[in-house]
Amino acid sequence: MQNVIEVTKDLYYLGGNDRRLALFESAFPIPRGVSYNSYLLKDEKTVLFDTVDSAVCEVFLENLAYALGGRKLDYLVVHHMEPDHSASFFRVIETYPDVMVITNQKVAMMLKNYFPFSGKNVRLIREGDSLNVGKRNICFVFAPMVHWPEVMMSFIPENGVLFSADAFGTFGALGGSIFEDELPFERDFLDDARRYYFNIVGKYGAQVQNVLKKAAGLPIQTICPLHGPVWRRAEDIAWYLKKYDIWSKYEPEERGAVVFYASVYGHTQNAAEILGAELAKRGVPVKLYDVSVTHVSECLSEAFRYSHLVFASTTYNNGIFIHMENFLSDLKAHGMKNRKYSLIENGSWSPQAGGLMEKCISEWKGMEKLGDTVTVLSSVKEETRNQLEALAASIAEDYQNA
Ligand code: FEO
Repeated sequence: MQNVIEVTKDLYYLGGNDRRLALFESAFPIPRGVSYNSYLLKDEKTVLFDTVDSAVCEVFLENLAYALGGRKLDYLVVHHMEPDHSASFFRVIETYPDVMVITNQKVAMMLKNYFPFSGKNVRLIREGDSLNVGKRNICFVFAPMVHWPEVMMSFIPENGVLFSADAFGTFGALGGSIFEDELPFERDFLDDARRYYFNIVGKYGAQVQNVLKKAAGLPIQTICPLHGPVWRRAEDIAWYLKKYDIWSKYEPEERGAVVFYASVYGHTQNAAEILGAELAKRGVPVKLYDVSVTHVSECLSEAFRYSHLVFASTTYNNGIFIHMENFLSDLKAHGMKNRKYSLIENGSWSPQAGGLMEKCISEWKGMEKLGDTVTVLSSVKEETRNQLEALAASIAEDYQNA
């Protein structure tokens, strides 16, 4: 049975939710599920904006047929070719063979790579082109690398609706309302939105900045992303745009410390916990994460969120413990920069993790080391505690003076 929701006059939400998928992109846990959004505009012409993941294809097709109400489908705008949005493309083409596909050259090439698609009935558009569909026009805004090279967005000037592709999306299924202003977004979605941003498009901060500059010139009233809720309240849109501005500039969203530790028998954890307590005692907001337990996508999101980072790792096979090594590699891949950082290492016969972590992190832009590396020899002793207290004092001084 269809579940079609009106977004604004003549615009309908046709998407669906997947609450069974364990790993989005086979990489990111989504315990709260995810939504795949698609929209239909019914003007003098009918326009479908993107399709959905195969997981929700059947309900989407049912929604589409219901929303069309017997009218033909005139246009299908394809903004992004990642299969969570394009997997149902060919089903739409088979069901509505006369539909005209509106997209750009890169998408057209990918359509042929993904599907046995002839390329017939494709109208190629370029940046700045527009399409009249009756009372409204659809203007095309290219957004390469947000999050693939072919990505574009659409804007309808007559009602201020922006179809933003992956941008402004979030993990987390929708249930009941699809509108952000009817949800406790900051409480229930912001952590997922941050994790989604940094893991999916975080590497492309410069490209997101370009999109934000283009968006600043548009009278946006509603944002329709491909995941998560629809945004339509002006102050909330401004708040979310500000978040994207901070995130894409790689600025810390909050001042505070996060201690990430990798511990085998608990001694490195012990050092991390002592440092955490000493930071808290000095008025520094602090969190601790065991990188062997907490998923790397969450650690990554938390690292980008805060201003002061501490990495504590035992030495393992003469290197950094594997979960910390993986975490540092992920941070590098996502362009971590402009943070204060400190180090704790452990080793029972040849502590090397500190030097190796420092070599790795010092290659990232704008990283400044605070304090000396604290070396734990097997377990924390009184002199180690003194070093941890000194490190906490260095971090606290920087936190308070900045
Ligand atoms: Fe939601 Fe880049 O796909």
